Amino acid sequence: MPHTAHGHGHAPDVDGQAEILDLDAEVLAEHTASIIEWLPVQASPRRIVDLGCGTGAGTFALLAHFPDAHVTAVDSSAEHLHRLHEKADQRGVADRVRTLQIDLDAAWPDLGTPDLVWASAALHHMADPDRTLRQVHEALAPGGLFAVVELAGFPRFLPEDAPEGRPGLEERVHAASERHHAEHVPHRGADWGPKLTAAGFTLAGERTITVRIEQSRSDAVGRYALSGLQRMRGTVADALPAEDLTALDRLLDTDGPRSILRRDDLVVRTERQVWAARRA
Ligand SMILES: C[S@@+](CC[C@H](N)C(=O)[O-])C[C@H]1O[C@@H](n2cnc3c(N)ncnc32)[C@H](O)[C@@H]1O
Repeated sequence: MPHTAHGHGHAPDVDGQAEILDLDAEVLAEHTASIIEWLPVQASPRRIVDLGCGTGAGTFALLAHFPDAHVTAVDSSAEHLHRLHEKADQRGVADRVRTLQIDLDAAWPDLGTPDLVWASAALHHMADPDRTLRQVHEALAPGGLFAVVELAGFPRFLPEDAPEGRPGLEERVHAASERHHAEHVPHRGADWGPKLTAAGFTLAGERTITVRIEQSRSDAVGRYALSGLQRMRGTVADALPAEDLTALDRLLDTDGPRSILRRDDLVVRTERQVWAARRA
């Protein structure tokens, strides 16, 4: 997937989220493709909705795998949708993508009876996810599939043996970030299986994917680690011991000798969980 990390020609990336989503799409492209391949669809879907589509990681992977499909890409962010639309133009698939800016926590417009609804790293953002699940159930065509993908947090990258002389630095950054998210994003890490069943779905499959990508596999890994840790720094700076913050800032100083961009020993490590749920 071509990278758009620096956003040339794109809408402004106010908080850096679009850049991370683009890098995430690039680095994890093979994993996303394998999830889509695994989906127990009954027939090749023609109408797909990508809920909380961001900059289009799922949208473009779905379009590539299902050549007869059209995707309605839904998000509350005008910037993300603009970026997605530009990419669709560049890739020559604009006629197969419709972008729709709505707040999924508010009333939903008619989404056109999709055969497949995809929600990746999106459900945990909903104010009332149980209601969202019921709305998806209602919107889907009979026999249609709902694919829920969630991450086990942001990936780890650094070797465990403390490159900055601070053993466990990355773990402590993540622990502080987890505490923040537990307070502000309470549905992150939920078990969506029972919730899907309660909303009327039949579970058709569930899997956990272990992600482990050596830096040599993609030249985006360093930038992905940098963007992610930069964003996490904003959340965790006050909660970290001063020595950890100093070590983190050395990693994030792209002009400095300890810059994470100078490393060649990064490994992307995380898990993705997938639930496939069918409407009867
Ligand atoms: C972590 S991103 C995931 C993006 C994309 N699905 C992916 O896998 O790269 C979550 C997305 O959900 C969107 N989102 C969050 N709350 C939303 C809401 N209430 N209505 C619509 N979109 C929302 C955000 O704007 C963001 O694009």
